[in-house]
Amino acid sequence: MKTIGVLTSGGDAPGMNAAVRAVVRTAIHCGMTVKGISRGYNGLIEGDIFDLDVRSVSDIIHRGGTVLYTARSPLFKTEEGMAAAIENCREAGIEGIVVIGGDGSYRGARDLSLRGIPCIGIPGTIDNDISSTEYTIGFDTAMNTAMEMVDKIRDTAQSHDRCSVVEVMGRRAGFLALQCGIAVGATAILVPEMDYSLDDVITKIKSSQMTGKKHFIIVVAEGVGGVEDIAKKIEAETGIESRATILGHVQRGGSPTVRDRVCATQFGYAAVQLLRKGIGNRVVGMNNGQIVDYDIYEALNMHKSFDTEMYEVANATSI
Ligand code: ADP
Ligand code: F6P
Repeated sequence: MKTIGVLTSGGDAPGMNAAVRAVVRTAIHCGMTVKGISRGYNGLIEGDIFDLDVRSVSDIIHRGGTVLYTARSPLFKTEEGMAAAIENCREAGIEGIVVIGGDGSYRGARDLSLRGIPCIGIPGTIDNDISSTEYTIGFDTAMNTAMEMVDKIRDTAQSHDRCSVVEVMGRRAGFLALQCGIAVGATAILVPEMDYSLDDVITKIKSSQMTGKKHFIIVVAEGVGGVEDIAKKIEAETGIESRATILGHVQRGGSPTVRDRVCATQFGYAAVQLLRKGIGNRVVGMNNGQIVDYDIYEALNMHKSFDTEMYEVANATSI
């Protein structure tokens, strides 16, 4: 394979730029030509494709967001969108594509591979909810951002003897909430994967109150939601003044951590090595700290379990 494309798709994540840089530099190092594709699959459909040289990716390793822009592209899921994308690949001489994104983007990569454009997926999402990898680009940065934000909230909760109920991102997954909740010493962590009872949370708050605890942090994953109602109920039943905060997109931005920059670089390198050998329809990931790759179909059928042991650690240490 001589010419490859690279795109970022779905929600952006800190470290995507480091992955783009690694793809471009590795490919050029191996004698290949690289084309950037703007705004995910939309750029492929619209032919928004441009040359990337070794210097095009200078000064981006430390930047959040994605210099290639990203998008969600409903049109790509249609025959018409797919046909335009394939045609534009052929016109630009793109023989394979590195797709940086989540499971949805992997499905798009699978469809392109099926139609003769071999693709390699790189896991990029702050949610860490991709089954075929224990780690996704952006997770570490987002966890640290969420932790820093909740630490600030704690200062004010502590000053007023309040309970703060904080929503962190994760529409379908509680990985971010669990790690952040442990790191901030939350009294309770509510995630979509685990049943919870608000009455139990209230009982726990009351029993901690008896041992002298005066301020409380409850971390709630976006997929559980309802932080305003949770705060109101806690205030009504415990008499502790309560406030709700939704951290939101602040968690998606910022300069990537060491872990995200290094993982992204490893993933980018590995993806190009596969395309270079003419291998497509695969995703790269991490298993026991090692870089691995799987067939996309296999990857999309994998299941990622929630870490119930870690959840128990959180419960036991938050009394
Ligand atoms: P993520 O990659 O972060 O999971 P999305 O689920 O929004 O984000 O997917 C990103 C894009 O991937 C979608 O906008 C669409 O263009 C493409 N995509 C998602 N699901 C499919 C699918 N089932 N088949 C083909 N393409 C898909
Ligand atoms: O997948 C990452 C994520 O940040 C989720 O945690 C969140 O639910 C979603 O993206 C929000 O996406 P957007 O606001 O870009 O539609």
